[in-house]
Amino acid sequence: MKESSKHNENILEVRDLKTYFNVGEGKVVKAVEGVNFSLKRSKILGIIGESGSGKSVTSRSIMRIVDQPGYIAGGEIIFEGQNLLEIPEREMEKIRGQKISLIFQNPTTSFNPFMTMEQHLKEVYLTHKKGATKSEARKRALEVLEMVGIHNGAEILKKYPCEFSAGFRQRVFIAMSMILEPDLLIADEPTTSLGITLQAEIMEALCEAQRKTGISIIIITHDFGVVSQFSDSLFVMYAGKCVESSPKKDLLLKPKHPYTIGLIRSVPLLEERKSKRLKSIPGFPPNMAEEQIGCSFSPRCEFAREKCFKDTPELKKVGEEHFCACHYPVDYNVEDDTKLEG
Ligand SMILES: Nc1ncnc2c1ncn2[C@@H]1O[C@H](COP(=O)(O)OP(=O)(O)OP(=O)(O)O)[C@@H](O)[C@H]1O
Ligand SMILES: [Mg+2]
Repeated sequence: MKESSKHNENILEVRDLKTYFNVGEGKVVKAVEGVNFSLKRSKILGIIGESGSGKSVTSRSIMRIVDQPGYIAGGEIIFEGQNLLEIPEREMEKIRGQKISLIFQNPTTSFNPFMTMEQHLKEVYLTHKKGATKSEARKRALEVLEMVGIHNGAEILKKYPCEFSAGFRQRVFIAMSMILEPDLLIADEPTTSLGITLQAEIMEALCEAQRKTGISIIIITHDFGVVSQFSDSLFVMYAGKCVESSPKKDLLLKPKHPYTIGLIRSVPLLEERKSKRLKSIPGFPPNMAEEQIGCSFSPRCEFAREKCFKDTPELKKVGEEHFCACHYPVDYNVEDDTKLEG
């Protein structure tokens, strides 16, 4: 564990982040529209939301690698006390990979089929660590493989990417992302293309790495089951905004936002659920190229009242470290699946 590890210290604070895409004809897609969240050092934060809610754009914004025609329109990204949106690109390059590592959705494309795993891992190390020797690079490669639970590292290093399953490659990729000892790892849907067993395996690899190194992790997914098991705190995104955030237990047992409740009710994994309780949220997320009036979730919300269609709700404190952007937060009891308006 690194010396700088202190309880309650935020390694990352994202404040009012806005990332827009100019898509032509004067249209602007507000993919991320005023997102706020923080991550404590050595903790795991799960970001959940449906496809298109702005999860990847948020993670790419943190790395300052938003695709054209996108741009960061406002906000602050405070990483280890420094606003990443204010530093020169030259400094940002050093932060990428060395301080913050991003794991993408599909790691297969991240490996060169003609290079062994040893070449891959060593290359990352030697490119960034000036003056390091090949034997140091190999030692570090074996260390990071061990961190993600790969104990026969020497054997693995000799092989080529095609000799492994997708799940195993992802595990090696996680190891590779940690070779430069980053303080923060962002895993954007690291398990999307994998089956349930492999998903659990990858998540365990991440947790193992977290326990061994004290690294802080953001896990992004649209699968509530995945994050609810492994995260310390959760952050729910809908249509480019944060609708609810809190420590995991509060969010799972006392969700306040109708969207979060809808997500929880649609997950079979959380506990033993009777199938009759499983219910997907009707309707679709809004078209992000259109102006949002009122709460973006109101057209799909069974509790929506007049105000919800007119005024945008702000993120408000509804409990200790529990925030919710809803005009009429709901009191919902997960245990007996009853809902009472609050
Ligand atoms: N290159 C782009 N050009 C225009 N709009 C974009 C571009 N990339 C993303 N967007 C917009 O940003 C929105 C959010 O995209 P993002 O990739 O962050 O969603 P996501 O939550 O990661 O979804 P998924 O679960 O499918 O990965 C999209 O709905 C889209 O409208
Ligand atoms: Mg995505």
